[in-house]
Amino acid sequence: MEIEGSRVLVAGATGVLGGHISRALSAGGARLVLAGRDEDSLEDLASETGAAATLVFDALDNESCAAVVARAARELGGLDALVIAFGVVAFGAEADTEDSVAEHVFQVNALAPMAMLRAALAELEPGGSVAVITAVTAEYPTAGMATYSASKAALSAWLQASRAEYRRKKVTVLDIRAPHMDTGLAHRAVAGAPPRLPEPFPVEELVEAVVNALGSGARQLAFDPRERELRVR
Ligand SMILES: NC(=O)c1ccc[n+]([C@@H]2O[C@H](COP(=O)([O-])OP(=O)(O)OC[C@H]3O[C@@H](n4cnc5c(N)ncnc54)[C@H](OP(=O)(O)O)[C@@H]3O)[C@@H](O)[C@H]2O)c1
Repeated sequence: MEIEGSRVLVAGATGVLGGHISRALSAGGARLVLAGRDEDSLEDLASETGAAATLVFDALDNESCAAVVARAARELGGLDALVIAFGVVAFGAEADTEDSVAEHVFQVNALAPMAMLRAALAELEPGGSVAVITAVTAEYPTAGMATYSASKAALSAWLQASRAEYRRKKVTVLDIRAPHMDTGLAHRAVAGAPPRLPEPFPVEELVEAVVNALGSGARQLAFDPRERELRVR
């Protein structure tokens, strides 16, 4: 997908990764609609990036997730890409994990993105892309993060199984299995305290790789924990 002139919805734009990706896409000449749950933060980022519009959704409400995709396409006169950059983490032993926490994590990390991605099938133009931040834990499920790992693996499996449907629409699916980064996500956990986490991967490197992968039509960005590098597949 050509970034210059593309029409992109960034969902979760007010997060650390969402903000960096929005700025990088804007610098590359994309026209953006920024979506999130905090109107003031969205407005601030919109004035920084020259975004065409801001839209509010809550990942706890699937209808609002589907609705922002259709509204973004109307605002931009069509949609070339959907970037999903929202999510939550939870930590702790499963014996101590409340059902309500597991439901929250699966709703935000799997069901809400799936609702948006289903809506996107009807809106994305041929030649377009979806780029979805899952996590390295989709491939390497991690102790102390079992619920989070499973929610990301669920989303990753959904992306893989839906790839053929997107291909029929000539839309590329990019699964971003991001490594641990120092974005503060762990300190905003919906439950528990983080286990010992690996050395954080540089955010700028991940963002650059995401924009390059979108531009080149890559299908997966995976992290090799031994070599500590991103692999484009
Ligand atoms: N940081 C890492 O180490 C890492 C590693 C692998 C994957 N990831 C994934 O990358 C994505 C972005 O994380 P980040 O590191 O940039 O953390 P972040 O700054 O905390 O961003 C999380 C984003 O999710 C949004 N969000 C949370 N609950 C929501 C809800 N109910 N409705 C709408 N939006 C909601 C937040 O909105 P507000 O701005 O309103 O709070 C924020 O925009 C997440 O999916 C995360 O799992 C992160």
